[in-house]
Amino acid sequence: MTTKPTKLHLETLLAQAGNRTDDEKTGAISAPIYLSTAYRHAGLGQSTGFDYPREAQPTRCILEKTLAQMENGVAAFALSSGMAAIQLVFTLFNSGDRIIISDDLYGGSYRFFDLLHDHYHLNFTVWDGQDQQQLAAAIDDKTVALWLETPSNPTMKVIDIAATAQTTQSHGIKLIVDNTFYTPLIQKPLDLGADLVVHSATKYLAGHNDILAGTVVAKHQTDADQLAFNLVTTGAVLDPFDAWLLLRSLKTLPLRMRQHEANAQTLVKVLTANSHVAKVLYPGRGGMISFYLAPGVDVDTFLRALKVVSFAESLGGVESLVTVPAVQTHADLSEAERQAKGITANLLRLSTGIENVADLQADLTQALTAAAK
Ligand SMILES: Cc1ncc(COP(=O)(O)O)c(C=O)c1O
Repeated sequence: MTTKPTKLHLETLLAQAGNRTDDEKTGAISAPIYLSTAYRHAGLGQSTGFDYPREAQPTRCILEKTLAQMENGVAAFALSSGMAAIQLVFTLFNSGDRIIISDDLYGGSYRFFDLLHDHYHLNFTVWDGQDQQQLAAAIDDKTVALWLETPSNPTMKVIDIAATAQTTQSHGIKLIVDNTFYTPLIQKPLDLGADLVVHSATKYLAGHNDILAGTVVAKHQTDADQLAFNLVTTGAVLDPFDAWLLLRSLKTLPLRMRQHEANAQTLVKVLTANSHVAKVLYPGRGGMISFYLAPGVDVDTFLRALKVVSFAESLGGVESLVTVPAVQTHADLSEAERQAKGITANLLRLSTGIENVADLQADLTQALTAAAK
């Protein structure tokens, strides 16, 4: 009788990532970092599978296999930033194509889409992320894809990926999801019907505020083949050191996400109960919280008074950070666009770290009190 190997749980797969990749030579548990940019060939037409690192690089390959398994894709690509990953996806499209985008995205994505519109003649239509009939009506014969982020940045709106995938599939367009905020620990877009997933791996996947990286994961082999060709052609691959560091970081992603989320759920209650906070936005899962300071509470005094949480522009790391989207991540939008999206000067975005939550609670509370004086 043959038994099928049991599919490993995500925690096991990630903890074991890279182990048994060097069994024949050393038995190393931690995957080796290969720095060589050249690979000897035994003869004409012969290769170890590694010829030149822009095409394939051993440490990066181990990482890419793990990233693909993590999101249940057929292939993944590790790039030098999240923006490089987003740019790679857009090499699949042609000038004249229309892409529908959800209405509350990372500010840098908007900046890139403006550039694509102004210089490469791609067209963009904004969708509110909620009404499927409106989405269907927005799809015309030039539309090739829908790009969405859920939960959205910074106003934490949630989009139903499965329902949206039904609409995109019935119209024959690609669904691309930026899964930076939730990670596959909370949602797996490819399982819900998406075709491509991107991450700013700089955030939760790396998790320690020390690597700039991005990834694209493909569900279909045809997309994977085209992306592989386009990445060799364009070249923004992740370097071997950072590939190793990202692989190492992924091993603790499940533990980190559990602590980020537990801390965030406590802080949502703390902030909601505080009279110096006008409104809290939390999508129900994960470590990201946005909140509006109440009228009269001074933003700058609040930021200066923080002693544990840092005022800094990133998210997803073990250290708690607070961002002011209006002057940081979304500074490139016009004032009118920011107002329409609710990105006002008193909106703050908190990336809850993995510190003891009592210390975070005390820090936020004392800073709110100081800022309300
Ligand atoms: C949701 C989201 N996507 C993409 C990016 C871009 O990633 P990177 O900064 O790694 O280039 C960011 C950066 O903040 C982000 O928050």
